[in-house]
Amino acid sequence: MNTNSRNKQLERWDHRYLWHPFTQMQEWTTEPPLIIERGKGAYVFDVEGRRYLDGVSSLWVNIHGHRHPVLDHAITAQTEKIAHSTFLGLSNPPAIELARALVHVAPRGLTRVFYSDNGSTAVEAALKMAVQYWQQRVPSAPAKTKFVRLSLAYHGDTLGAVSVGSIDLFHGRFDSLLFPTLTADAPYCYRCPLKLEYPSCRMACLEPIETLLRSRHEEIAGIILEPIVQAAAGMITAPSGYLKRIRELCDAFGVLLIADEVATGFGRTGRMFACQHEDVTPDLMAVSKGLTGGYMPLAATLTTEKIYEAFLGRYDEWKTFFHGHSYTGNPLGCAVALANLRIFRRTGTLTKLRPKIALFSRLLKPLAVQQHVGDIRQRGFMAGLELVKDRASREPYPLEARVGHQVALESRRQGLLLRPLGNVLILVPPLITTSSELRRMVSILHRSIEKVTVTDRTPSVPCT
Ligand SMILES: Cc1ncc(COP(=O)(O)O)c(C=O)c1O
Repeated sequence: MNTNSRNKQLERWDHRYLWHPFTQMQEWTTEPPLIIERGKGAYVFDVEGRRYLDGVSSLWVNIHGHRHPVLDHAITAQTEKIAHSTFLGLSNPPAIELARALVHVAPRGLTRVFYSDNGSTAVEAALKMAVQYWQQRVPSAPAKTKFVRLSLAYHGDTLGAVSVGSIDLFHGRFDSLLFPTLTADAPYCYRCPLKLEYPSCRMACLEPIETLLRSRHEEIAGIILEPIVQAAAGMITAPSGYLKRIRELCDAFGVLLIADEVATGFGRTGRMFACQHEDVTPDLMAVSKGLTGGYMPLAATLTTEKIYEAFLGRYDEWKTFFHGHSYTGNPLGCAVALANLRIFRRTGTLTKLRPKIALFSRLLKPLAVQQHVGDIRQRGFMAGLELVKDRASREPYPLEARVGHQVALESRRQGLLLRPLGNVLILVPPLITTSSELRRMVSILHRSIEKVTVTDRTPSVPCT
C-alpha cells in the first residue's frame, strides 16, 4: 500500500473507530484528522511529512523535546530488562531511584512518593490520603472530610477530581455524582469577582477564604489548588504572595494544603515546582504530565513524613492506604522520568530557561496592543492570551463563536499547533524550545489572531 492510500485508510479508520477526548465527534468526522506520526525537538510531523511547532508541548507534557536521545535510550534500556511488574507487594529499581530523585527536587519536607498513572489519579490519591489522615492521626478528627476548591479549578476528569473542579462546562452535568465541596473565588485579577484592582486590593479575595477556614475548619480536610497558575481555567496567574498566604491560613486553622502541580510541575513556571516560587511546602502534592518529559503516563502524590506516619500500624489496625493501580510504579515510566530529571540536573534546563522566559515576555508584550487581546498572562513557559469581543468592556466572545478554535486552525495552517481553552489561547512550549523557535511561535500566533479577529488593523509584531 502506498503512503497516500495508507493515510487515507488511517483517516477512515480514525473516523470509523475512535472517540477523541474533549472533542465533538460530529464535527471531527467532517474534516480529515491531523495525524501525527513523529517528532523531533520542539516539532511534530504529520503522516504527510508536514512540520508543526508543538506550541502546547503535546498538552503540557513535553519538557526536553521529542525524540530526546537520553529519554529514548532510557526506555529501550529498560525494555531490555522488564516493561512492567506489579508494585503491590513488590518493588523495582527505577521506581525506587525515581522516588529518591523526586524527593530531592521537591519542596523541602515532601519525603514520601506514592505512584499512580495520570494527573487525575494523583489528585484522587491526595484527596483520599487527606481524609484518611484526619481519621488516623492522633487525636483523630474524622469530621474533617470537606475540601475547599477555587472557582474555575481543574484537577482532572475522574469523579473525585471533578468534585474539586469548578469548570461548569466540563463538570456541571455530573453534579449528582459528586461529593460536596466549599468554593472560594479564584484570584482572577482580569475579571476580579470583587471588582478590585491589584495591588491596591491587597488580595482581598483571601479574606473570604480566611473566614471560611475560621468558621468551618473542623469539617475541612484540605484546600486544593493549582499553585501560581490555574492552567485549564485559562492560565490564571495568582498574584505574588497569594500562595504563601494560603499556606499560612492552612497552618493557622489546621487544614491540609494540597498543591496540584500536574500542569505547573517540572520547570513549566521557571522553577522545578510552582510552590518553590513562594518557598511553600504543601502537605500533599500531585505531579504528572512533565514527570516523564512527555514520554509515558506516570504520576505521583508526594507527602510529608507526618502524614505518612499516620498510616503506620499493625495490619489489623486497618490503617493501610487501600489504594493502587495495575500500572502503579511502572518501570518504563519511572526509568524515563529518572532520565528526565537527570537531564534537568546535567544540562541545567532551568538555568537555560531563564533568559528564554524573559524573551517570551518581551515577545508577548506587543500582542497586548491587538484590539481583541484583553489580557496576557504568563508565568515561565505557560502563557494565556484572553481574547475579548470588546476590550473596553472586557465583553467575552460567545463561546459558540469558537474564536480561539479559529485562531488555532489558522496557526496550524502556518505551522504551529495550539489547543485553546475557549477564548484563551494557550502557548506552552517545550522547555528546550530555542529562542528562534519561540519567536516563530509568537509571530505565528500574532498573525493568526490578527487574521481571525482584527478589523481595525494594528502593525504586525516584528520577528525580533
Ligand atoms: C492542574 C491539573 N490537574 C490535573 C490534571 C489531570 O491530569 P490528567 O489529564 O493526566 O488526568 C490536569 C490536566 O490538564 C491539570 O492541568
